Amino acid sequence: MKTYKIAVIAGDGIGPEVIDAGIEVLKKAAALDSTFQFQFTYFPWGCEFYTKHGKMMDENGIDQLKEFDAIYLGAVGFPGVPDHISLWDLLLRIRKEFDQYVNIRPVRLLKGAKTSLMDVKREDINMLFIRENSEGEYSGAGEWLFKGRENEVVMQNSVFSRKGTERIIRYAFETAKNQKRSLTSISKANALNYSMVFWDQVFEEVSAEYPEVETSSYLVDAAAMLMIKDPKRFEVVVTSNLFGDILTDLGAAIAGGIGLAAGANINPERNYPSMFEPIHGSAPDIAGKGIANPLAAIWSASQMLDFFGYESYGKEVLNAIEELLTEGQVLTPDMGGTASTQEVAERIVEIMDSRIASGKLHV
Ligand code: NAD
Ligand code: IPM
Ligand code: MN
Repeated sequence: MKTYKIAVIAGDGIGPEVIDAGIEVLKKAAALDSTFQFQFTYFPWGCEFYTKHGKMMDENGIDQLKEFDAIYLGAVGFPGVPDHISLWDLLLRIRKEFDQYVNIRPVRLLKGAKTSLMDVKREDINMLFIRENSEGEYSGAGEWLFKGRENEVVMQNSVFSRKGTERIIRYAFETAKNQKRSLTSISKANALNYSMVFWDQVFEEVSAEYPEVETSSYLVDAAAMLMIKDPKRFEVVVTSNLFGDILTDLGAAIAGGIGLAAGANINPERNYPSMFEPIHGSAPDIAGKGIANPLAAIWSASQMLDFFGYESYGKEVLNAIEELLTEGQVLTPDMGGTASTQEVAERIVEIMDSRIASGKLHV
């Protein structure tokens, strides 16, 4: 039997609550198949760890993680530790060190999920965001000069390398080609006269290699407007690190809410572990109450199953989410219900069981 070693970094706030739920579902999926299982190893890293040890993870944390097949992460960041420290020393560090340069974030209105938009059909909201995840506005480079003085100057550098830009755009073209869908590039060359002019140029160059893929290109401000006004224009979407961050929270708002938005940080070459996480944060306002929506973490678990090649189980997890949303009985408060995180997880597992019993499960 194949064993997948999963490093679990539940992290801060609602992180551990939603990750527990996701692990229940992953265990259920593995129990359906005698050929594979998961072995979970928990790492207590995060803001509490920082408060005790003065660092976000063990000194050799990255080396420890290298041994795993994937990382399952809840959320990082909590009041008390400055966000730029907690995030740069853990989440962003892992994305960079493991060259997880593709961030896949579906913005898709699942069956039963409610959109905040009026007059749209479910099929109209079905985008696949491919966010550059290793450089760009998140290069981490900059300078802070003359701190506290009148002539204080702060610079935050965006870095778009030929390699980094080409590989994400090529990945997006391959995805669009395989899925037989159009590809939209989102940039901002009218104002960002180096980085985004370069981005657009690379998009055009790579586009010439994929004549079968229909393309379009939008400025990010107009794209944000059109995602609300006419979401069906967008199918596969490729964009930079910061624009992808912002637009996928906007996407979450039109596709059922932030509690439902999933993401996968992928190292396509599989030289290092990839990382699966909901796109939301640690939600300090509801942490510890047991009411966080675990569906985003569960959808990310489904992405993990896909990544390991168990697409039929990944699909079953999504089917169970859709069935739960359609029933509309066991939902957390953010979706208008009164259920707890744990109750949602239990219902998902029950639905998977009942699909097996009724022969609906096609795996
Ligand atoms: P957030 O996503 O944590 O919360 C924004 C709002 O959405 C809050 O009202 C919260 O209650 C709600 N929300 C988020 N997830 C939810 C869920 N699963 N169920 C129900 N409601 C949910 O964003 P924020 O408040 O801007 O950030 C809080 C902390 O999390 C900060 O430290 C930030 O840096 C960090 N953060 C981490 C990640 C990550 O680890 N991937 C992502 C985003 C933010
Ligand atoms: C996300 C988060 C992170 C990001 C933060 C916490 C650094 O917002 O995963 O969307 O900006 O990538
Ligand atoms: Mn974000």
